[in-house]
Amino acid sequence: MPIRLGDISLKTRVYVPPMAGVTDIVFRNLVRKVDPNCLLATEMVSSRALMHRPETRIMDLNPEEKPTGIQIFGHEPDVMAQAAQMAEAKGADFVDINMGCPVPKITKGKDGCALMREPDLAREIVSTVKAAIKIPLTVKFRLGWDDDSRNCIEFGQMLESAGAVAVTVHGRTRQQLYSGKANWEYIGRVKRALGIPVFGNGDVFEPEDAVTLLEKTGCDGVAVARGTLGNPWLISRINNYLETGKLADEPQPLERLVCAYLHAVGLVRYKGPRVGINESRRHLTHYTKGIEGAAPYRARLTQVNNTEEVAAILAELAEKVAGTETLRLFLLAVEQENFKNSEHPGKWHSDSESCVQTPVDLVTV
Ligand SMILES: Cc1cc2nc3c(=O)[nH]c(=O)nc-3n(C[C@H](O)[C@H](O)[C@H](O)COP(=O)(O)O)c2cc1C
Repeated sequence: MPIRLGDISLKTRVYVPPMAGVTDIVFRNLVRKVDPNCLLATEMVSSRALMHRPETRIMDLNPEEKPTGIQIFGHEPDVMAQAAQMAEAKGADFVDINMGCPVPKITKGKDGCALMREPDLAREIVSTVKAAIKIPLTVKFRLGWDDDSRNCIEFGQMLESAGAVAVTVHGRTRQQLYSGKANWEYIGRVKRALGIPVFGNGDVFEPEDAVTLLEKTGCDGVAVARGTLGNPWLISRINNYLETGKLADEPQPLERLVCAYLHAVGLVRYKGPRVGINESRRHLTHYTKGIEGAAPYRARLTQVNNTEEVAAILAELAEKVAGTETLRLFLLAVEQENFKNSEHPGKWHSDSESCVQTPVDLVTV
């Protein structure tokens, strides 16, 4: 049975959930290239900031990128409802509410996971937002605030009764941040207590992990975040494994390096040379992680200043790890992309997007 988000019938069981500093339009396009049916969501957007800066590009969606949700955070029901309406007007397929973010900057204002300590307020937010929009509403949360207050089961039931059509549960408490292991057993308890679809989340880095999580928890779907960093192919490999029981090969170095380049170019085109290249450094190091012999190049990629330097370093790496034919094909891909860009120069946007939260450090989480 396909998972349903309200009226939407999904063609996948795999979800790439919101990641601040990652799931922007550039990243989402790359994931969709390898898996067109994937369920995706934007980075979290501050509902309060949207009231002052409604034009933020963080909510930009391609008309073709479906299904994609916009995630909002905040704690004022009316402001959240207005933000959700703005997301709906932007073309989101669903609105997701963030009740799981553990970062102190967010939780100290009663936002994110702090709402798990305020279930009455969380209920009011969900029912107010629900009444304000026609598209489906989902919520993402954790096991609870800390080990002594794991209220995810009652919390999930409350969200369902308030109108959420699906939830994503990250199997850690707020106190854990990203430490320890995600508790899949506990996610299973939430699944069994709810009637709406549940996406289990936490520590899926290989297709086999996804299958184990789904088996252990009985969840309808799986949400995969960090595993996709520099590795959008993980999503199609998981789907393939779920459908056929066979493990597809890992991408070859050429595919990884071309995707890394396209990611950097995409960010520079979309966010401008300064912000774009700055953000691309973190991603570039992730793309090279599965490539043997890439360590010295990775260090250089953290210091690149423009896409020409990116291309030069990746070209060296291509030749070193895979030979001259791979180098030739890499340079061809670079040339084709540069030609396309010169034919259709994109507009870029260099401001600092005040509705975007400071990205969690990709290298340390
Ligand atoms: C860089 C980064 C940014 C994140 N930003 C968000 C966010 O904006 N909203 C959200 O609900 N969760 C956010 N998360 C949490 C992830 O969606 C996910 O719940 C968590 O990483 C656990 O899943 P994983 O083990 O598959 O990475 C973020 C995680 C990372 C690593």
